[in-house]
Amino acid sequence: MTLRVNVRETLSMILHVDAQRKLVREQLKAAGIADSGVEADLLLAGVLGISRGEVQMRSLLGRELSEMEAREVGAATARRARREPLQHVLGVAPFLDMELAVGPGVFVPRPETESLVTAAVALLGQDPSSSVGQLTGIDVGSGSGAVALGVARAHGRIRMTAIERSSAAWPWLRANVEAFGDGHVDVFFGDAERAFSVVPPGSLDLVVSNPPYVPAANRPESREVWRHDPEEALYSGVDGLDFIRELATWSSAALARGGVLIVEHEDSQGAEIRQIFADAGFIDAATRQDLTGRDRLTSAVRSASGEGGCDQPTIM
Ligand SMILES: C[S@@+](CC[C@H](N)C(=O)[O-])C[C@H]1O[C@@H](n2cnc3c(N)ncnc32)[C@H](O)[C@@H]1O
Repeated sequence: MTLRVNVRETLSMILHVDAQRKLVREQLKAAGIADSGVEADLLLAGVLGISRGEVQMRSLLGRELSEMEAREVGAATARRARREPLQHVLGVAPFLDMELAVGPGVFVPRPETESLVTAAVALLGQDPSSSVGQLTGIDVGSGSGAVALGVARAHGRIRMTAIERSSAAWPWLRANVEAFGDGHVDVFFGDAERAFSVVPPGSLDLVVSNPPYVPAANRPESREVWRHDPEEALYSGVDGLDFIRELATWSSAALARGGVLIVEHEDSQGAEIRQIFADAGFIDAATRQDLTGRDRLTSAVRSASGEGGCDQPTIM
């Protein structure tokens, strides 16, 4: 406690950007944060409302902060040093072209999940000049709304519904849909099973989800994850696949012929998920790689007859 007060007080007395950068970096490093240099610049940029490049420039030019800014940097550094996620400290998480509002109670969207959005949009096919009518999709377990919003904005011709059952995540979802939905994203508060129960059979073109998929025994190493990401966002049964099994069944009924189901998952789960999808009546089950080159996405297509099969190897 004494240390924290000292960090804040010390930082609030230092007004040179360069000295602040160094001290913030040292405090974050002492707290065990890996990339403390990058995080120090991101923290300063977030608090000051400028870019990382601008932080570096002000540092080089010997610029100073106001006392108020220095106090805010001190408070933010103390929170980050207690291992609150940087996104919670700053109140925003970058995702595709958006700065999503995040905070306690909502899963922080990860950069890798941008690959889920890109793959979903590619599988739907995208022809902005097409005169074909609007498509319909749902994002199951929407959290901050990152995936629903990303798909709607990138595709341009799909109406998405963001489904979320967590009352802690709900205000963040509402705020982000309001800010970035452009009227193309609806929200549904409640359990996924209840949401699917009101979807007319065969009516959807897309079901996309970054569901809970961590096996019960795999406690994440990162303190930020296990202390600040909600448990219901992470775990789903012994092998982590309980939610995906149910999702496959619900989606099989809700998707139109040719409709796409795509989920994010751990890199070891692709083969099992392809089998789950095939058993639920999907065809063309295939595992894809995320931005980091790991097998993190599996998709499949709703068959005409409901008979599954056709297990494809990983798509590079
Ligand atoms: C891994 S997080 C993903 C959040 C967001 N889609 C993203 O990618 O950042 C999973 C989300 O699913 C929600 N969730 C878990 N089980 C659910 C259920 N049965 N019905 C609706 N939402 C659920 C959690 O509350 C959490 O927000």
